[in-house]
Amino acid sequence: MIEAHVSTRDVQQFEGDALAVGVFADEAHLQGPAAALDEALAGVIAELVASGEVTGAADEVTLLHTLGKIEPTRVAIIGLGARGKFSVDRVRRSASLACRALRDAGAHEVGLALAWAESGVNLASAARAATEGALLGLYEFKRYKTQRDDKPQRAIAAITILGRGREPALRSAVQRGRILAESANFARDLGNEPPNTLTPTELGERARAMAAEVGLDCDIHGKDWIREQQMGALLGVNQGSVEEPRFIVLRYNGAGANTPALALVGKGITFDSGGLSLKTHEGMLEMKMDMCGAAAVIGAMRALALLKPAVNVVGIAPATENMPSGSAYRPGDILRAANGKTIEINNTDAEGRLALADALSYAVKQGYTPIVDAATLTGAIGIALGNHRAGLFSNNSDFAHAVEQAALTSGERVWAMPMDDDYDRLIRSEIADIKQSGGRLAGSISAAKVLSQFVGDTPWAHLDIAGTAIRSARDAEGEGGATGYGVRLFTELAMQFAGRKGE
Ligand code: BES
Ligand code: ZN
Ligand code: ZN
Repeated sequence: MIEAHVSTRDVQQFEGDALAVGVFADEAHLQGPAAALDEALAGVIAELVASGEVTGAADEVTLLHTLGKIEPTRVAIIGLGARGKFSVDRVRRSASLACRALRDAGAHEVGLALAWAESGVNLASAARAATEGALLGLYEFKRYKTQRDDKPQRAIAAITILGRGREPALRSAVQRGRILAESANFARDLGNEPPNTLTPTELGERARAMAAEVGLDCDIHGKDWIREQQMGALLGVNQGSVEEPRFIVLRYNGAGANTPALALVGKGITFDSGGLSLKTHEGMLEMKMDMCGAAAVIGAMRALALLKPAVNVVGIAPATENMPSGSAYRPGDILRAANGKTIEINNTDAEGRLALADALSYAVKQGYTPIVDAATLTGAIGIALGNHRAGLFSNNSDFAHAVEQAALTSGERVWAMPMDDDYDRLIRSEIADIKQSGGRLAGSISAAKVLSQFVGDTPWAHLDIAGTAIRSARDAEGEGGATGYGVRLFTELAMQFAGRKGE
Protein backbone atom coordinates (compact mmCIF):
# COMPACT_ATOMS: atom_id res chain seq x y z
CA MET A 1 0.00 0.00 0.00
CA ILE A 2 1.34 3.39 -1.03
CA GLU A 3 1.04 6.19 1.54
CA ALA A 4 -0.41 9.53 0.46
CA HIS A 5 0.46 12.74 2.35
CA VAL A 6 0.03 16.48 1.96
CA SER A 7 2.47 19.21 2.69
CA THR A 8 1.99 22.97 2.51
CA ARG A 9 5.72 23.66 2.63
CA ASP A 10 7.82 24.88 -0.29
CA VAL A 11 9.27 22.45 -2.81
CA GLN A 12 12.80 23.35 -1.65
CA GLN A 13 11.94 21.96 1.78
CA PHE A 14 10.63 18.61 0.56
CA GLU A 15 12.56 15.79 2.15
CA GLY A 16 11.69 12.79 0.00
CA ASP A 17 14.04 11.45 -2.66
CA ALA A 18 12.17 12.67 -5.75
CA LEU A 19 10.15 15.65 -6.93
CA ALA A 20 7.86 16.27 -9.88
CA VAL A 21 7.13 19.79 -11.10
CA GLY A 22 5.06 20.98 -14.04
CA VAL A 23 5.98 23.31 -16.87
CA PHE A 24 3.46 24.88 -19.26
CA ALA A 25 4.05 24.93 -22.99
CA ASP A 26 5.33 28.01 -24.77
CA GLU A 27 6.15 30.08 -21.71
CA ALA A 28 9.47 31.85 -21.55
CA HIS A 29 9.53 32.16 -17.75
CA LEU A 30 9.20 29.40 -15.21
CA GLN A 31 6.64 29.94 -12.50
CA GLY A 32 5.60 28.44 -9.17
CA PRO A 33 7.28 25.24 -7.99
CA ALA A 34 9.26 24.88 -11.23
CA ALA A 35 10.77 28.35 -10.69
CA ALA A 36 11.52 27.65 -7.03
CA LEU A 37 13.19 24.38 -7.89
CA ASP A 38 15.11 25.99 -10.73
CA GLU A 39 16.53 28.47 -8.28
CA ALA A 40 17.64 25.68 -5.95
CA LEU A 41 19.23 23.90 -8.91
CA ALA A 42 21.18 26.93 -10.14
CA GLY A 43 19.09 27.52 -13.24
CA VAL A 44 19.31 24.11 -14.88
CA ILE A 45 15.57 23.91 -15.66
CA ALA A 46 15.55 27.34 -17.28
CA GLU A 47 18.57 26.22 -19.29
CA LEU A 48 16.70 23.15 -20.53
CA VAL A 49 13.73 25.32 -21.50
CA ALA A 50 16.00 27.80 -23.30
CA SER A 51 17.69 25.00 -25.23
CA GLY A 52 14.34 23.58 -26.29
CA GLU A 53 14.90 20.25 -24.53
CA VAL A 54 12.00 20.99 -22.19
CA THR A 55 9.06 22.40 -24.18
CA GLY A 56 6.23 21.88 -21.72
CA ALA A 57 4.27 19.90 -24.32
CA ALA A 58 1.56 17.74 -22.78
CA ASP A 59 2.87 14.36 -21.58
CA GLU A 60 6.53 15.37 -21.93
CA VAL A 61 8.67 13.82 -19.18
CA THR A 62 12.25 14.95 -18.51
CA LEU A 63 14.27 13.37 -15.72
CA LEU A 64 17.10 15.18 -13.94
CA HIS A 65 19.58 14.12 -11.29
CA THR A 66 20.20 16.79 -8.70
CA LEU A 67 23.77 15.73 -7.81
CA GLY A 68 23.49 16.69 -4.16
CA LYS A 69 22.25 20.27 -4.71
CA ILE A 70 19.01 19.51 -2.88
CA GLU A 71 17.69 16.66 -0.74
CA PRO A 72 15.70 14.88 -3.50
CA THR A 73 18.08 13.11 -5.84
CA ARG A 74 15.72 12.99 -8.82
CA VAL A 75 13.40 15.48 -10.44
CA ALA A 76 10.78 14.86 -13.12
CA ILE A 77 9.75 17.86 -15.21
CA ILE A 78 6.30 17.21 -16.59
CA GLY A 79 4.95 19.00 -19.63
CA LEU A 80 1.48 20.34 -18.82
CA GLY A 81 0.55 21.58 -22.30
CA ALA A 82 -1.03 24.99 -22.87
CA ARG A 83 -1.99 26.87 -19.71
CA GLY A 84 -5.38 27.72 -21.21
CA LYS A 85 -6.21 24.02 -21.59
CA PHE A 86 -5.10 22.99 -18.12
CA SER A 87 -7.62 20.87 -16.24
CA VAL A 88 -8.05 18.45 -13.39
CA ASP A 89 -7.80 15.63 -15.96
CA ARG A 90 -4.40 16.95 -17.01
CA VAL A 91 -3.32 16.91 -13.34
CA ARG A 92 -4.39 13.27 -13.00
CA ARG A 93 -2.54 12.21 -16.11
CA SER A 94 0.59 14.21 -15.25
CA ALA A 95 0.78 12.73 -11.77
CA SER A 96 0.54 9.26 -13.28
CA LEU A 97 3.30 9.92 -15.80
CA ALA A 98 5.53 11.52 -13.17
CA CYS A 99 5.18 8.72 -10.66
CA ARG A 100 5.79 6.00 -13.21
CA ALA A 101 8.90 7.70 -14.59
CA LEU A 102 10.27 8.31 -11.08
CA ARG A 103 9.53 4.77 -9.97
CA ASP A 104 11.43 3.44 -12.97
CA ALA A 105 14.31 5.72 -12.00
CA GLY A 106 14.37 4.16 -8.52
CA ALA A 107 12.52 6.76 -6.42
CA HIS A 108 10.76 5.81 -3.19
CA GLU A 109 9.19 9.00 -1.84
CA VAL A 110 7.79 11.38 -4.42
CA GLY A 111 6.62 14.96 -3.94
CA LEU A 112 4.17 16.26 -6.54
CA ALA A 113 4.00 20.00 -7.27
CA LEU A 114 2.32 20.26 -10.64
CA ALA A 115 1.64 24.01 -10.84
CA TRP A 116 -1.94 23.86 -9.64
CA ALA A 117 -1.66 27.16 -7.77
CA GLU A 118 -0.77 29.03 -10.98
CA SER A 119 -3.40 27.48 -13.19
CA GLY A 120 -6.79 28.40 -11.83
CA VAL A 121 -7.95 24.82 -11.13
CA ASN A 122 -9.48 24.19 -7.72
CA LEU A 123 -6.69 23.12 -5.39
CA ALA A 124 -8.64 20.43 -3.56
CA SER A 125 -9.86 18.91 -6.85
CA ALA A 126 -6.32 18.99 -8.17
CA ALA A 127 -4.95 17.34 -5.03
CA ARG A 128 -7.55 14.62 -5.31
CA ALA A 129 -6.85 14.08 -9.01
CA ALA A 130 -3.09 14.00 -8.46
CA THR A 131 -3.52 11.32 -5.80
CA GLU A 132 -5.77 9.33 -8.11
CA GLY A 133 -3.34 9.68 -11.00
CA ALA A 134 -0.37 8.64 -8.89
CA LEU A 135 -2.00 5.55 -7.42
CA LEU A 136 -3.71 4.51 -10.66
CA GLY A 137 -0.50 5.07 -12.62
CA LEU A 138 1.62 3.03 -10.22
CA TYR A 139 -0.75 0.05 -10.36
CA GLU A 140 0.72 -3.23 -11.56
CA PHE A 141 -0.66 -6.75 -11.65
CA LYS A 142 2.25 -8.96 -10.67
CA ARG A 143 0.49 -11.66 -8.67
CA TYR A 144 1.59 -14.45 -10.96
CA LYS A 145 5.20 -13.38 -11.46
CA THR A 146 7.27 -15.79 -9.39
CA GLN A 147 10.34 -13.82 -10.43
CA ARG A 148 10.34 -10.15 -11.28
CA ASP A 149 11.87 -9.67 -14.68
CA ASP A 150 12.16 -5.90 -14.38
CA LYS A 151 14.61 -3.93 -12.26
CA PRO A 152 14.37 -5.24 -8.69
CA GLN A 153 13.00 -3.35 -5.68
CA ARG A 154 11.60 -0.48 -7.70
CA ALA A 155 8.62 0.66 -5.71
CA ILE A 156 7.24 3.97 -4.51
CA ALA A 157 6.35 3.86 -0.83
CA ALA A 158 4.80 7.30 -0.42
CA ILE A 159 3.59 10.28 -2.40
CA THR A 160 3.19 13.81 -1.03
CA ILE A 161 0.95 16.40 -2.61
CA LEU A 162 2.70 19.76 -2.25
CA GLY A 163 0.33 22.70 -2.35
CA ARG A 164 -0.35 25.97 -0.60
CA GLY A 165 -3.86 25.64 0.76
CA ARG A 166 -5.86 24.82 3.84
CA GLU A 167 -4.29 21.64 5.14
CA PRO A 168 -7.47 19.89 6.38
CA ALA A 169 -9.18 20.46 3.00
CA LEU A 170 -6.15 19.17 1.16
CA ARG A 171 -5.90 16.17 3.43
CA SER A 172 -9.52 15.15 2.90
CA ALA A 173 -9.17 15.62 -0.87
CA VAL A 174 -6.13 13.35 -0.89
CA GLN A 175 -7.94 10.81 1.27
CA ARG A 176 -10.87 10.79 -1.16
CA GLY A 177 -8.53 10.40 -4.12
CA ARG A 178 -6.82 7.52 -2.40
CA ILE A 179 -10.08 5.68 -1.67
CA LEU A 180 -11.22 6.10 -5.28
CA ALA A 181 -7.91 4.98 -6.78
CA GLU A 182 -7.53 2.01 -4.45
CA SER A 183 -11.10 0.93 -5.17
CA ALA A 184 -10.45 1.23 -8.91
CA ASN A 185 -7.27 -0.82 -8.46
CA PHE A 186 -9.28 -3.41 -6.54
CA ALA A 187 -11.59 -3.61 -9.57
CA ARG A 188 -8.56 -3.89 -11.87
CA ASP A 189 -7.27 -6.84 -9.85
CA LEU A 190 -10.60 -8.58 -10.44
CA GLY A 191 -10.45 -7.80 -14.16
CA ASN A 192 -6.86 -8.94 -14.56
CA GLU A 193 -7.24 -12.14 -12.57
CA PRO A 194 -7.20 -15.09 -15.02
CA PRO A 195 -10.49 -16.82 -15.75
CA ASN A 196 -9.34 -20.16 -14.33
CA THR A 197 -9.12 -18.59 -10.88
CA LEU A 198 -11.71 -15.83 -11.16
CA THR A 199 -14.72 -18.07 -11.70
CA PRO A 200 -18.20 -16.76 -10.80
CA THR A 201 -17.78 -18.51 -7.44
CA GLU A 202 -14.47 -16.77 -6.81
CA LEU A 203 -15.87 -13.39 -7.89
CA GLY A 204 -18.57 -13.88 -5.28
CA GLU A 205 -16.00 -14.81 -2.64
CA ARG A 206 -13.89 -11.75 -3.42
CA ALA A 207 -16.96 -9.54 -3.12
CA ARG A 208 -17.89 -11.23 0.15
CA ALA A 209 -14.41 -10.78 1.64
CA MET A 210 -14.31 -7.12 0.60
CA ALA A 211 -17.80 -6.54 2.04
CA ALA A 212 -16.75 -8.03 5.38
CA GLU A 213 -13.64 -5.87 5.44
CA VAL A 214 -15.34 -2.52 4.78
CA GLY A 215 -18.73 -3.29 6.37
CA LEU A 216 -21.23 -3.79 3.55
CA ASP A 217 -24.28 -6.06 3.61
CA CYS A 218 -23.71 -8.88 1.19
CA ASP A 219 -25.72 -11.73 -0.35
CA ILE A 220 -24.03 -14.11 -2.77
CA HIS A 221 -26.84 -16.15 -4.27
CA GLY A 222 -26.28 -19.53 -5.92
CA LYS A 223 -28.02 -21.49 -8.63
CA ASP A 224 -31.02 -22.61 -6.56
CA TRP A 225 -31.89 -19.05 -5.64
CA ILE A 226 -31.41 -17.95 -9.25
CA ARG A 227 -33.83 -20.72 -10.33
CA GLU A 228 -36.38 -19.64 -7.69
CA GLN A 229 -36.19 -16.11 -9.09
CA GLN A 230 -36.94 -17.57 -12.53
CA MET A 231 -33.92 -15.89 -14.03
CA GLY A 232 -34.14 -17.92 -17.21
CA ALA A 233 -31.90 -15.62 -19.25
CA LEU A 234 -28.95 -15.79 -16.86
CA LEU A 235 -29.48 -19.55 -16.49
CA GLY A 236 -29.54 -19.92 -20.27
CA VAL A 237 -26.10 -18.35 -20.57
CA ASN A 238 -24.81 -20.44 -17.70
CA GLN A 239 -26.04 -23.82 -18.89
CA GLY A 240 -23.05 -24.56 -21.13
CA SER A 241 -20.56 -24.01 -18.32
CA VAL A 242 -19.37 -26.39 -15.62
CA GLU A 243 -18.98 -23.38 -13.32
CA GLU A 244 -21.97 -22.43 -11.18
CA PRO A 245 -23.44 -18.94 -11.64
CA ARG A 246 -23.57 -16.39 -8.85
CA PHE A 247 -25.89 -13.44 -8.27
CA ILE A 248 -23.97 -10.93 -6.18
CA VAL A 249 -25.82 -8.30 -4.13
CA LEU A 250 -23.99 -5.70 -2.01
CA ARG A 251 -25.85 -3.09 0.02
CA TYR A 252 -24.62 0.21 1.37
CA ASN A 253 -27.11 1.92 3.69
CA GLY A 254 -26.09 5.50 4.37
CA ALA A 255 -29.57 7.02 4.43
CA GLY A 256 -32.90 6.22 6.08
CA ALA A 257 -34.90 3.10 5.25
CA ASN A 258 -37.53 5.19 3.43
CA THR A 259 -35.03 6.57 0.96
CA PRO A 260 -35.03 4.62 -2.32
CA ALA A 261 -31.75 2.99 -3.22
CA LEU A 262 -29.71 3.76 -6.30
CA ALA A 263 -28.89 0.48 -8.06
CA LEU A 264 -25.53 -0.16 -9.70
CA VAL A 265 -25.65 -3.21 -11.98
CA GLY A 266 -22.62 -4.79 -13.68
CA LYS A 267 -22.12 -7.50 -16.29
CA GLY A 268 -20.12 -10.30 -14.74
CA ILE A 269 -19.16 -12.73 -17.50
CA THR A 270 -15.97 -14.25 -16.08
CA PHE A 271 -15.08 -15.65 -19.48
CA ASP A 272 -16.86 -15.04 -22.78
CA SER A 273 -15.98 -17.67 -25.38
CA GLY A 274 -19.07 -16.68 -27.36
CA GLY A 275 -20.72 -20.01 -26.56
CA LEU A 276 -21.86 -22.04 -29.57
CA SER A 277 -21.60 -18.83 -31.65
CA LEU A 278 -17.93 -19.22 -30.83
CA LYS A 279 -15.60 -16.24 -30.99
CA THR A 280 -12.42 -16.32 -33.07
CA HIS A 281 -9.10 -16.96 -31.39
CA GLU A 282 -8.33 -13.21 -31.38
CA GLY A 283 -11.82 -12.30 -30.26
CA MET A 284 -11.48 -14.46 -27.17
CA LEU A 285 -8.11 -13.19 -25.97
CA GLU A 286 -9.29 -10.44 -23.64
CA MET A 287 -12.54 -12.07 -22.60
CA LYS A 288 -11.45 -12.79 -19.05
CA MET A 289 -12.23 -9.07 -18.65
CA ASP A 290 -15.87 -9.45 -19.64
CA MET A 291 -16.70 -9.02 -15.95
CA CYS A 292 -15.35 -5.47 -15.75
CA GLY A 293 -18.86 -4.06 -15.32
CA ALA A 294 -19.30 -6.25 -12.24
CA ALA A 295 -15.84 -5.22 -11.04
CA ALA A 296 -16.79 -1.53 -11.41
CA VAL A 297 -19.88 -2.12 -9.28
CA ILE A 298 -17.98 -4.02 -6.60
CA GLY A 299 -15.19 -1.43 -6.59
CA ALA A 300 -17.64 1.47 -6.30
CA MET A 301 -19.42 -0.24 -3.41
CA ARG A 302 -16.05 -0.51 -1.66
CA ALA A 303 -15.41 3.21 -2.19
CA LEU A 304 -18.87 4.14 -0.89
CA ALA A 305 -18.45 2.03 2.23
CA LEU A 306 -15.28 4.00 2.99
CA LEU A 307 -16.56 7.46 1.99
CA LYS A 308 -19.87 7.03 3.83
CA PRO A 309 -22.18 9.45 1.97
CA ALA A 310 -25.82 9.80 3.12
CA VAL A 311 -27.33 7.65 0.38
CA ASN A 312 -28.58 4.09 -0.10
CA VAL A 313 -26.91 2.11 -2.86
CA VAL A 314 -27.28 -1.50 -3.95
CA GLY A 315 -24.63 -3.16 -6.13
CA ILE A 316 -25.80 -6.07 -8.27
CA ALA A 317 -23.65 -8.35 -10.39
CA PRO A 318 -24.91 -11.43 -12.24
CA ALA A 319 -21.91 -13.70 -12.80
CA THR A 320 -21.43 -16.66 -15.13
CA GLU A 321 -19.16 -18.01 -17.83
CA ASN A 322 -20.34 -18.23 -21.43
CA MET A 323 -19.12 -21.57 -22.77
CA PRO A 324 -19.91 -23.96 -25.62
CA SER A 325 -20.76 -27.55 -24.74
CA GLY A 326 -23.37 -30.25 -25.24
CA SER A 327 -25.51 -28.51 -22.65
CA ALA A 328 -24.98 -24.97 -23.95
CA TYR A 329 -27.88 -22.75 -25.00
CA ARG A 330 -28.33 -22.53 -28.75
CA PRO A 331 -29.27 -20.08 -31.47
CA GLY A 332 -33.00 -20.67 -31.87
CA ASP A 333 -33.68 -21.22 -28.17
CA ILE A 334 -36.26 -19.00 -26.51
CA LEU A 335 -35.50 -17.94 -22.94
CA ARG A 336 -37.83 -16.38 -20.38
CA ALA A 337 -36.35 -13.61 -18.21
CA ALA A 338 -37.33 -12.94 -14.58
CA ASN A 339 -39.85 -10.25 -15.63
CA GLY A 340 -41.66 -12.82 -17.82
CA LYS A 341 -40.48 -11.51 -21.19
CA THR A 342 -39.37 -14.04 -23.78
CA ILE A 343 -36.17 -13.65 -25.80
CA GLU A 344 -35.41 -15.40 -29.08
CA ILE A 345 -31.72 -16.33 -29.14
CA ASN A 346 -29.94 -15.64 -32.42
CA ASN A 347 -26.31 -15.31 -31.31
CA THR A 348 -25.05 -16.93 -28.13
CA ASP A 349 -22.20 -14.38 -28.07
CA ALA A 350 -24.71 -11.66 -27.14
CA GLU A 351 -24.82 -13.11 -23.61
CA GLY A 352 -24.23 -9.97 -21.55
CA ARG A 353 -27.67 -8.51 -22.24
CA LEU A 354 -29.22 -11.78 -21.04
CA ALA A 355 -27.41 -11.74 -17.72
CA LEU A 356 -28.34 -8.08 -17.36
CA ALA A 357 -31.98 -8.67 -18.35
CA ASP A 358 -32.47 -10.69 -15.17
CA ALA A 359 -30.39 -8.36 -13.00
CA LEU A 360 -32.31 -5.29 -14.21
CA SER A 361 -35.64 -7.08 -13.72
CA TYR A 362 -34.55 -7.86 -10.18
CA ALA A 363 -33.56 -4.24 -9.47
CA VAL A 364 -36.94 -3.00 -10.75
CA LYS A 365 -38.82 -5.60 -8.71
CA GLN A 366 -36.98 -4.51 -5.57
CA GLY A 367 -38.04 -0.90 -6.21
CA TYR A 368 -34.53 0.47 -6.62
CA THR A 369 -34.42 3.77 -8.47
CA PRO A 370 -32.68 5.06 -10.47
CA ILE A 371 -30.77 2.16 -12.02
CA VAL A 372 -27.44 2.43 -13.81
CA ASP A 373 -25.56 -0.45 -15.38
CA ALA A 374 -22.06 -0.90 -16.77
CA ALA A 375 -21.25 -3.66 -19.21
CA THR A 376 -18.55 -4.66 -21.67
CA LEU A 377 -21.50 -5.19 -23.94
CA THR A 378 -20.52 -4.63 -27.57
CA GLY A 379 -17.35 -4.44 -29.65
CA ALA A 380 -19.25 -1.86 -31.68
CA ILE A 381 -18.97 0.79 -28.95
CA GLY A 382 -15.17 0.65 -29.26
CA ILE A 383 -15.51 1.19 -33.02
CA ALA A 384 -17.76 4.19 -32.39
CA LEU A 385 -16.04 5.91 -29.45
CA GLY A 386 -12.62 4.30 -29.03
CA ASN A 387 -11.07 3.99 -25.57
CA HIS A 388 -11.81 7.50 -24.32
CA ARG A 389 -15.51 7.54 -23.70
CA ALA A 390 -18.10 4.96 -22.76
CA GLY A 391 -21.43 4.95 -24.57
CA LEU A 392 -24.27 6.35 -22.47
CA PHE A 393 -27.82 5.18 -23.15
CA SER A 394 -30.83 6.17 -21.11
CA ASN A 395 -34.61 6.30 -20.93
CA ASN A 396 -34.60 9.47 -18.81
CA SER A 397 -32.93 12.75 -19.70
CA ASP A 398 -32.65 14.02 -16.11
CA PHE A 399 -30.87 10.90 -15.00
CA ALA A 400 -28.69 10.90 -18.14
CA HIS A 401 -27.61 14.43 -17.22
CA ALA A 402 -26.73 13.32 -13.70
CA VAL A 403 -24.55 10.57 -15.19
CA GLU A 404 -22.90 13.06 -17.55
CA GLN A 405 -22.18 15.34 -14.60
CA ALA A 406 -20.61 12.47 -12.64
CA ALA A 407 -18.56 11.60 -15.71
CA LEU A 408 -17.20 15.15 -15.94
CA THR A 409 -16.36 15.35 -12.25
CA SER A 410 -14.75 11.92 -12.10
CA GLY A 411 -12.85 12.23 -15.39
CA GLU A 412 -14.40 8.99 -16.67
CA ARG A 413 -15.95 10.29 -19.88
CA VAL A 414 -19.18 9.24 -21.54
CA TRP A 415 -20.94 10.15 -24.76
CA ALA A 416 -24.71 10.11 -25.07
CA MET A 417 -25.99 7.77 -27.77
CA PRO A 418 -29.45 7.82 -29.39
CA MET A 419 -32.34 5.62 -28.30
CA ASP A 420 -35.06 6.65 -30.80
CA ASP A 421 -38.10 4.41 -31.16
CA ASP A 422 -36.99 3.73 -34.74
CA TYR A 423 -34.31 1.41 -33.43
CA ASP A 424 -36.88 -0.81 -31.73
CA ARG A 425 -37.57 -2.73 -34.92
CA LEU A 426 -34.00 -4.09 -34.86
CA ILE A 427 -34.95 -6.41 -32.02
CA ARG A 428 -38.46 -7.34 -33.18
CA SER A 429 -39.12 -11.09 -33.18
CA GLU A 430 -41.82 -13.08 -35.00
CA ILE A 431 -42.10 -15.73 -32.34
CA ALA A 432 -40.95 -14.20 -29.01
CA ASP A 433 -41.35 -10.82 -27.29
CA ILE A 434 -37.95 -9.68 -28.53
CA LYS A 435 -34.98 -10.91 -30.47
CA GLN A 436 -31.73 -11.09 -28.55
CA SER A 437 -29.57 -9.28 -31.06
CA GLY A 438 -30.17 -6.82 -33.88
CA GLY A 439 -27.17 -7.52 -36.07
CA ARG A 440 -24.16 -5.42 -37.00
CA LEU A 441 -25.66 -2.03 -37.80
CA ALA A 442 -26.10 0.13 -34.68
CA GLY A 443 -25.02 -2.89 -32.63
CA SER A 444 -24.48 -0.94 -29.40
CA ILE A 445 -27.88 0.76 -29.70
CA SER A 446 -29.82 -2.43 -30.35
CA ALA A 447 -28.04 -3.99 -27.35
CA ALA A 448 -29.18 -1.05 -25.19
CA LYS A 449 -32.69 -1.47 -26.64
CA VAL A 450 -32.72 -5.06 -25.38
CA LEU A 451 -31.76 -3.87 -21.88
CA SER A 452 -34.45 -1.18 -21.95
CA GLN A 453 -37.09 -3.94 -22.17
CA PHE A 454 -36.27 -4.92 -18.59
CA VAL A 455 -36.36 -1.59 -16.77
CA GLY A 456 -39.90 -0.45 -17.54
CA ASP A 457 -40.41 3.19 -16.54
CA THR A 458 -37.72 3.25 -13.87
CA PRO A 459 -35.14 5.95 -14.66
CA TRP A 460 -32.21 4.01 -16.06
CA ALA A 461 -28.87 4.57 -17.73
CA HIS A 462 -26.59 2.05 -19.39
CA LEU A 463 -22.85 2.46 -19.92
CA ASP A 464 -21.30 0.34 -22.64
CA ILE A 465 -17.72 0.11 -21.38
CA ALA A 466 -16.33 -2.44 -23.86
CA GLY A 467 -13.95 0.24 -25.20
CA THR A 468 -12.96 1.88 -21.92
CA ALA A 469 -12.68 -1.02 -19.48
CA ILE A 470 -9.84 -2.78 -21.27
CA ARG A 471 -6.50 -1.25 -22.27
CA SER A 472 -4.85 -3.52 -24.80
CA ALA A 473 -1.28 -2.45 -24.01
CA ARG A 474 0.65 -0.20 -21.64
CA ASP A 475 0.34 3.46 -22.68
CA ALA A 476 0.55 6.98 -21.23
CA GLU A 477 -2.56 6.29 -19.13
CA GLY A 478 -1.23 3.21 -17.39
CA GLU A 479 -0.57 -0.51 -17.53
CA GLY A 480 -2.26 -2.75 -20.07
CA GLY A 481 -5.26 -4.76 -18.85
CA ALA A 482 -8.32 -3.76 -16.87
CA THR A 483 -8.62 0.01 -16.34
CA GLY A 484 -11.12 0.04 -13.47
CA TYR A 485 -13.36 2.31 -15.56
CA GLY A 486 -16.64 3.05 -13.84
CA VAL A 487 -15.54 2.92 -10.21
CA ARG A 488 -14.95 6.66 -10.01
CA LEU A 489 -17.99 7.55 -12.10
CA PHE A 490 -20.35 5.30 -10.12
CA THR A 491 -19.02 6.57 -6.81
CA GLU A 492 -19.35 10.18 -7.90
CA LEU A 493 -22.90 9.54 -9.09
CA ALA A 494 -23.87 8.03 -5.75
CA MET A 495 -22.29 10.99 -3.92
CA GLN A 496 -24.48 13.32 -6.02
CA PHE A 497 -27.55 11.52 -4.68
CA ALA A 498 -26.45 11.93 -1.09
CA GLY A 499 -29.04 13.69 1.00
CA ARG A 500 -32.03 13.02 -1.26
CA LYS A 501 -35.24 12.20 0.56
CA GLY A 502 -37.83 9.49 0.02
CA GLU A 503 -40.39 10.32 -2.69
N1 BES B 1 -18.14 -9.33 -24.47
C1 BES B 1 -18.50 -9.04 -25.80
C2 BES B 1 -18.24 -7.61 -26.22
C3 BES B 1 -16.80 -7.14 -26.21
C4 BES B 1 -16.06 -7.14 -27.38
C5 BES B 1 -16.24 -6.65 -25.06
C6 BES B 1 -14.75 -6.69 -27.37
C7 BES B 1 -14.93 -6.19 -25.06
C8 BES B 1 -14.19 -6.21 -26.21
C9 BES B 1 -19.99 -9.32 -26.00
O1 BES B 1 -20.53 -10.33 -25.25
C10 BES B 1 -20.17 -9.70 -27.44
O2 BES B 1 -19.63 -10.69 -27.84
N2 BES B 1 -20.91 -8.89 -28.18
C11 BES B 1 -21.13 -9.13 -29.55
C12 BES B 1 -22.58 -8.80 -29.84
C13 BES B 1 -23.08 -9.39 -31.12
C14 BES B 1 -23.05 -10.89 -31.07
C15 BES B 1 -24.48 -8.90 -31.37
C16 BES B 1 -20.20 -8.24 -30.37
O3 BES B 1 -19.85 -7.15 -29.94
O4 BES B 1 -19.78 -8.67 -31.44
ZN1 ZN C 1 -20.29 -12.28 -26.07
ZN1 ZN D 1 -19.57 -10.65 -23.40
